[in-house]
Amino acid sequence: MSKLDIAIAGEINLDLILYGLPEQMPTERELLASDFAITLGSSSAILAHNLAALGTCVGFVTKVGNDSFGTLAMERLRERGVDLTRIAHGVKSGVTLILPHGAQRHILTYPGTISELRFEDLDLDYLATARHFHMSSLFLQRELLPRVPELFRRMKSAGLTTSLDTNDDPDDRWDGTLLEEILPHVDILLPNEREAMKMSRADDVETALSRLAQKVKTVVVKMGASGAVAICGGQRFAAPAAPVTVVDPIGAGDSFDAGFLHQFLRGADLTCCLAYGNLCGALSTTACGGTEAFRDDARMREFLRQHNPKNQGT
Ligand SMILES: Nc1ncnc2c1ncn2[C@@H]1O[C@H](COP(=O)(O)OP(=O)(O)OP(=O)(O)O)[C@@H](O)[C@H]1O
Ligand SMILES: [Mg+2]
Repeated sequence: MSKLDIAIAGEINLDLILYGLPEQMPTERELLASDFAITLGSSSAILAHNLAALGTCVGFVTKVGNDSFGTLAMERLRERGVDLTRIAHGVKSGVTLILPHGAQRHILTYPGTISELRFEDLDLDYLATARHFHMSSLFLQRELLPRVPELFRRMKSAGLTTSLDTNDDPDDRWDGTLLEEILPHVDILLPNEREAMKMSRADDVETALSRLAQKVKTVVVKMGASGAVAICGGQRFAAPAAPVTVVDPIGAGDSFDAGFLHQFLRGADLTCCLAYGNLCGALSTTACGGTEAFRDDARMREFLRQHNPKNQGT
């Protein structure tokens, strides 16, 4: 009997968020923000945190910096009971600085240990004790990237189901050869609209969906305030976003993944997975960063109950 519901291999870092900066940011001027937050960031760690908050049993394998940023980031995962017994250690933490400007934002990342996780750092036997394997931020995994196809292949042959959220490619290359090698071993692909189009070289979301559906069993495309669409077994599904007052959209995509996979791992159907993904994406936008809305249990449960009474207590 497997102990872990899901094993996630990926990056961990803090997000430093400065709200209310002027839209024009000239150099050599002291520019004042109206507020500031330090939150657990990084797609993989946000997913691990929020899945654990929802009640899924998560094992997280990452490379953590040997500094106070690394310690604080790990503390946030430990608080939620994420299994961290197989982490590797590096020297200098990566960090992301986020400067929201209305609906747009600057996202500036120093990679540090984010890009230093190696295939040799992964305990494959441990990963294979889970029922499901997931990776996020594919293109930030510079060291691991060449062996990601092998990693997914080995997880599939060990009997796990798998999912992938590539997030953005900072080089904007969207290496087709690499994706061709990985996608046959992916059961659920979770891009946003732009990523889906880039990955499939399509000019619109519907073309992207149908192209990707030829390679992956379940394709889910996240569409911000418009909710999400999916294709599985030739059938198309759509689900609207929950109406909320947005603080910031940071980590909404990772929180969507958490809600979707939480239900998937409980055996729910695709309609339910999509609805819960939207609910968790919306919840994330109601507080700073990608994890703050999932730290206060009572607030989280109340939001999920209010917006979806059917899922009370899940
Ligand atoms: N303004 C909003 N109102 C309600 N729900 C939202 C809003 N923005 C995002 N969401 C929810 O969060 C989900 C994911 O958002 P989005 O499409 O921005 O993902 P993403 O671009 O992958 O995000 P990330 O920056 O975290 O990678 C949406 O599908 C939706 O369910
Ligand atoms: Mg995303």
